[in-house]
Amino acid sequence: MTRVAVIGASGFTGLELVKILINHPKFEISYVATSEGETSLTALHPALTDVFDAPVAKADAAEIAEAADLAFLALPHKASMGFAKHLLERGVKVVDLSADYRLELATYEAHYCPHEDKEHLPEAVYGLPELTREPLKKARLVANPGCYPTAALLGLLPFTPYIDSDFPIFIDAKSGVSGAGKKCTQTTHFVTINENIFPYNPLVHRHQPEIAEKLQKQSGKRFDINFVPHLIPVTRGEMVDSYMLLKEEIDPLEVLRDFYKEAPFVRIFEKPVDIKSPSGTNFCDIFARRSGKKLYINSAIDNILRGASSQAVVNANLMCGYDEALGIPVIAYVP
Ligand SMILES: NC(=O)c1ccc[n+]([C@@H]2O[C@H](COP(=O)([O-])OP(=O)(O)OC[C@H]3O[C@@H](n4cnc5c(N)ncnc54)[C@H](OP(=O)(O)O)[C@@H]3O)[C@@H](O)[C@H]2O)c1
Repeated sequence: MTRVAVIGASGFTGLELVKILINHPKFEISYVATSEGETSLTALHPALTDVFDAPVAKADAAEIAEAADLAFLALPHKASMGFAKHLLERGVKVVDLSADYRLELATYEAHYCPHEDKEHLPEAVYGLPELTREPLKKARLVANPGCYPTAALLGLLPFTPYIDSDFPIFIDAKSGVSGAGKKCTQTTHFVTINENIFPYNPLVHRHQPEIAEKLQKQSGKRFDINFVPHLIPVTRGEMVDSYMLLKEEIDPLEVLRDFYKEAPFVRIFEKPVDIKSPSGTNFCDIFARRSGKKLYINSAIDNILRGASSQAVVNANLMCGYDEALGIPVIAYVP
């Protein structure tokens, strides 16, 4: 068994990590923490009552290193790198769900804050298995992708050889409210979002540079990414619609099927997808249609699973030499 720690267990992605890990045949939860500690998992999450309980500590890097071989950091950016650097120095593998290790240094500092772990940043592997499966097998630090970049990149990556990079790519995205984390704000307040929909940070959202950087790394081409996310009144789920021009008239479904022929967690559809179908799972559902040289790509994921926690466990599987699908839910009841 591999001993794993969940840091940030009171949060949305922390709970999803616990729910996956308690059924995982090779990972054993050996340490659970939040910023304050002094509680238990069932006190934080009544849903776990009579299922699984563990004491919750105030997160401490030395204690994590003592208790675990691998740590999931389900923390806000900046807090994550504060722990990751100490854990790596003590030989603990890290899967970081925050943005701290996802970007090149200059891009990170332009969009987030000064980086506090420049030493380990260059070794971080971006944790999108369909893009980086082989490097993930050797990684000790994995940067789990953002939720929107996961859905957007899985739709776009197969098409980079065919997209006309002289024209912009427009990405219109919608997310359920859990994407914003557990802290209630004016925007995520029930009265604001119920029966409502609105864009936020259009063209300046932090996930825009993440999508652009990974597309450029994969293809060697610079794409003009224009990203507009919306908040919608659902708890979980994310839908991404991308529009672009092609250089040639390809069959998009054939391109998708070929690119993902060995991907256990991508499903190709012949009609538009919805956000409920992949909910509760690690699947990314994708549909695409071409009209002349115009291409439309439509992808959907569960933001806290494929966009965060289940993808994190897939990455941990690969890092530890297990099958990537080990212990990952493939179907779930989601009301
Ligand atoms: N929600 C999503 O759909 C999603 C998707 C992809 C990526 N992410 C990323 O994943 C990370 C976690 O997201 P989330 O939605 O789970 O956030 P969340 O619900 O706000 O939970 C954050 C957790 O971090 C803990 N925490 C904060 N500062 C800490 C510190 N200094 N030391 C120890 N624990 C600390 C909090 O503990 P306390 O309760 O004690 O404050 C809480 O357990 C974020 O970086 C987020 O951007 C989220």
